[in-house]
Amino acid sequence: MSNTAMNAPLKVQVSGARMLTDAVREFTFTPCSGHLPGFSAGSHVQVHLPLAGGTLRNAYSLTSDPADNRHYRIAVRLQEHSRGGSRFLHREVQVGDTLQLSPPANLFALHSTAHVHILIAGGIGITPFMAYIAALERQNAQFELHYVYRQGQSDAYVEELQQRLGNRLHCYASRPDLSQILRDRPLGSHVYSCGPQPLLEAVRQQAQALGWPEQRVHWEAFSAAQPGKPFEVNLLHSNQRLQVGAEQSLLEALETAGLNVPNLCRGGVCGQCKVRHTGGEVEHRDSFLSTAEQAEFLMPCVSRAHSCVSLDL
Ligand code: FES
Repeated sequence: MSNTAMNAPLKVQVSGARMLTDAVREFTFTPCSGHLPGFSAGSHVQVHLPLAGGTLRNAYSLTSDPADNRHYRIAVRLQEHSRGGSRFLHREVQVGDTLQLSPPANLFALHSTAHVHILIAGGIGITPFMAYIAALERQNAQFELHYVYRQGQSDAYVEELQQRLGNRLHCYASRPDLSQILRDRPLGSHVYSCGPQPLLEAVRQQAQALGWPEQRVHWEAFSAAQPGKPFEVNLLHSNQRLQVGAEQSLLEALETAGLNVPNLCRGGVCGQCKVRHTGGEVEHRDSFLSTAEQAEFLMPCVSRAHSCVSLDL
């Protein structure tokens, strides 16, 4: 199959939708024709959301069992103050609707050589771990899940997990004592965290303080384009000028203009969409580039400009 065919959007039907908590809605997608591509635990898909101001592509972790590609499942937390993608999924999308997805990509894979897997989830950060747990159970691997949530809001799947995991599940209403979780672990333990930035930072700092090697500490941050002020872009090679709307990301404006910029996370963390800029005051919002690199490059999935920016495109 050619690369273009492999990256072509997948057309799916919403075959199930249910509220898991007051703020989290789960969707099940089945293919409109043929088969869905296989995926590994920790993968995400970009859901194409046809909003009035243009199409957004939001990335969501696949929560379903990677061994079963008859369907995909995602769980979406309603973000009232973002650009409207989660609101659209919560309020507009119904069972029977069709949607487009970008094929799965994995930026948060399980490490198969690990002897012990310690999973730390904050709120909706539980989502990639649902697929992890299915894979780990199948491998008969040693693992435990530490889950911090707000009851009634971000406690998706708690009852299911209690029944499934028994004493391998540890629940918390506020941040747990990370030193206790990470201290005195056998060689070959890996820790994975997913959730709000302060939790990920705390896990990283604690692991470092206890001497964990960097290669055994993994995390996935939630980040997505946030709105901002409109600005202009100058495309130096194609000699075009584009407007980026307040609710639109620079990447979306480039895509609307027909430019194909590689991307995976659309949240400023994977480094795929890097573009050279040559003028203008850039507002860097990514967590990928070093300060030195930011002088030369920007990540159009999240970063913006104050008035006008010129790009090497
Ligand atoms: S798509 Fe990942 S950093 Fe932009």
